[in-house]
Amino acid sequence: MWQLIVTACICLVLWTNCEGNTFELEGSTTSFAKYTKWNPCTNGSLKFEFKTEQLNGMLMYLDDGGKLDFFEAKVVGGSVRLRVNFGEGIATVLTLGENLHDNRWHSVLIRRDGQEVTMEVDQQQQSKKLRAGNLQLGKMETNSYLFIGGLPAQYMARLSELALPSVVFEPRFRGSIRNLMYSNCSQPFGRPLLLDSQGVRTNNRDPCAKYDPCLNGGICVSTDKGAICDCSQINFEGDHCDKETIPSEATFSGQEYLSYDLSNRGDPIVSKNDEVSFFFKTRQTNGILFYTGDGSDFLLVALVDGVIMVSVNLGAGEFQHPVLTEKYNDNQWHHVVVERRSREIAILVDGLLQQTGATTGVFSMLSSNVLYVGGSANTFKLTQGKVNSNFRGCLKKVGLDVFGHTGSYHMYCTFGHV
Ligand SMILES: *[C@@H]1O[C@H](CO)[C@@H](O)[C@H](O)[C@H]1NC(C)=O
Ligand SMILES: *[C@@H]1O[C@H](CO)[C@@H](O)[C@H](O)[C@H]1NC(C)=O
Repeated sequence: MWQLIVTACICLVLWTNCEGNTFELEGSTTSFAKYTKWNPCTNGSLKFEFKTEQLNGMLMYLDDGGKLDFFEAKVVGGSVRLRVNFGEGIATVLTLGENLHDNRWHSVLIRRDGQEVTMEVDQQQQSKKLRAGNLQLGKMETNSYLFIGGLPAQYMARLSELALPSVVFEPRFRGSIRNLMYSNCSQPFGRPLLLDSQGVRTNNRDPCAKYDPCLNGGICVSTDKGAICDCSQINFEGDHCDKETIPSEATFSGQEYLSYDLSNRGDPIVSKNDEVSFFFKTRQTNGILFYTGDGSDFLLVALVDGVIMVSVNLGAGEFQHPVLTEKYNDNQWHHVVVERRSREIAILVDGLLQQTGATTGVFSMLSSNVLYVGGSANTFKLTQGKVNSNFRGCLKKVGLDVFGHTGSYHMYCTFGHV
């Protein structure tokens, strides 16, 4: 019995890794491939390679389930055209490449980072600012799946469920697709799962489908010269992602924290401008993320009831602002940047400006003699009761830039083996 279960699991793992890494779409009026949803949130990327002899064909489509927002990529006259729409208004259009219907492989990368959409086709790149006010792509629950090469024929009778109904009338893609991958919401790249398809044939000669040489979760990438391993998303390197590198992220369980005594040079650091930047991921609703200060002066970033709270006091009055847009304890990576220019404070989350404001009082300098990341010995006391628990989750790329009268300095925490 045990034997059976174990075998079944192994098969499943291989199947999800390799299945359909290279596939062909027949380009008939019914062909399509449907994948798990892409959740770019405000920062995500999607990439694939295609090969075709057709001048026109639909490459990729997803939308918010029939309202306004969509991503559509297609081959038009031998170029790749991307149309992106968020909210009311005119779609942003990017076009790259020519004579791409030459039956050779071409790579496409679509990146969405805050206000900006970028497309890369082979070696070329183009970026444009999204015109929309609302930068969230619909809602994950109601958003469509990711479609490659075409949409299921049922959509013909359900045009109101599409934000861009004309997409069902586009010529379908005839050709091959390989190495489809996306990054959800600041997360590492991963392969989406094929949920349904029609008119699709997987390529048996695909090098990754034949044999996946990548260890430790490295992603197998099919190339004309064979399979290669992409280890960029994991803490391993080498041809087969077989050599461990120093981890760049640290896990906190509520006990451990990093502290740094800034006064060991003599005086506390006094800064006019500073910038704190880090990534975190957690399921906990409360916890201190970052603190620097000296007595009544401090800059604090914490999670309180799942929202990011920034509190700054330069000695004469406090700026305290929660970022209420959404709950951030969703176990996804989020990037937080807090910029302070004298009394002015700006908070960016996942590349978007979320809050601005100023501290009250006349003081504009922040004095610091200590820095804490992820916790402290007595967080309740340190934060004057604002936060009572240490952080539980993962943190990476924690950096602090300080610009003062006496010079500037940059601090970057490398966690190593903690
Ligand atoms: C991306 O997010 C969607 C929706 O939350 C999920 O279904 C999918 O499995 C995720 N895929 C990857 C590769 O992270
Ligand atoms: C977006 O996510 C990528 C990782 O996928 C990260 O390198 C980049 O810094 C992020 N950008 C922002 C503004 O958070």
